[in-house]
Amino acid sequence: MSGCPFHASAPPAPPPPSAARFDLAEELRFLEEIHEQPALSLRLAECRAAHAASRPAPLDSAELRHAARVAWRNHSRCIGRLHWRSLEVRDHRHLDDAEQMAASLREHLALAQNDGAVRSIMTVFAPPDRPGGPAPRIVNHQLCAYAGYRAADGSVLGDPKNVRLTALALELGWRPPTERGRFDLLPWIIAGRDGAPRLFPLPPGFVREVPLRHPEHAWFEKLGLRWYAVPAISDRVFRAAGTDFPAAPFNGWYMGTEIGARNLADRDRYDQLPVIAEKLGLDRRRPRSLWQDRALVELNVAVLHSFEAEGVKLVDHHAASAEFMKFLEREQKSGREVSARWDWIIPPLSPATTEVFHTPMREFALSPDFHAREPDATPGCPF
Ligand code: ARG
Repeated sequence: MSGCPFHASAPPAPPPPSAARFDLAEELRFLEEIHEQPALSLRLAECRAAHAASRPAPLDSAELRHAARVAWRNHSRCIGRLHWRSLEVRDHRHLDDAEQMAASLREHLALAQNDGAVRSIMTVFAPPDRPGGPAPRIVNHQLCAYAGYRAADGSVLGDPKNVRLTALALELGWRPPTERGRFDLLPWIIAGRDGAPRLFPLPPGFVREVPLRHPEHAWFEKLGLRWYAVPAISDRVFRAAGTDFPAAPFNGWYMGTEIGARNLADRDRYDQLPVIAEKLGLDRRRPRSLWQDRALVELNVAVLHSFEAEGVKLVDHHAASAEFMKFLEREQKSGREVSARWDWIIPPLSPATTEVFHTPMREFALSPDFHAREPDATPGCPF
């Protein structure tokens, strides 16, 4: 996107090396932002003492919750940030054992699915107990995801995005359904503080999914497409007040285009546009018949229609754009500049019909935030 006037991108600050001390200056800044005297002096003193002993920031649960909400508010790629104050935070920093984490994650997902009325939740597990020390982690990129099985001829059954994770799960002893399918839910792979990856298959029927159908085309349902209700990112590091939390999964709800214009449409994902165009009787010989564009619209109609009919919360890209504009306005009123990546904020379907497309944006580093995990340094850990 270089040269694009709407996307002046500065790369976010690199994460500090994992052996770094907990960052005192960042901790103090965070506490100064949220406390007033006399409480502030006390918290600063407690924080300095923890730092001197190389312990993580002693945030209380209310401070942790605020940090998580601000991390969402700061996240430059997210169009849904108007709702940052509604994030619920489960303070599970006392958990560092894989078995207990899996039990907590089952609760997380059940609360988030909420019978279709999806709620935004984050669960924070134990951070390293000393700088650079081992911490628990969830290997899966998301709590819900479909297996991708690579065959000998190179073709993939299922979601090609998850080929590596699927291979790892199989290596660890996962038993997939006897008849492998395109939408087999992957088990969780969790490593506690001991670094040993363990497998946790999901109870059948536990993950809420939506079978896709089209309001006008009866054949659509026969394509057998479906998607899960809750996107729950589980492999990002939550950085709050100078401490990294490598296991802090969080979820929001879907925007329709994530499923309809990317997951099911991208050529290196489920690649469904040719099949849909064929059913629609479109001329696939020439791109300028716009068969891809027309198939894309019908696929997105089906996603929006199916989630709505099933009573599962999902936002369309027009509503999401309007909400983001409201977020920008509110933040401006609060005296804060918003960091945003234009190429992530604009929807992949009909972007220029939404106001965000016509809005210049700038990205800069902020904290608290979420960042990508570094390659693992825990001895004995294979990932
Ligand atoms: N784009 C990802 C997916 O399709 C999910 C990313 C988070 N999305 C969200 N609406 N919170 O699975």
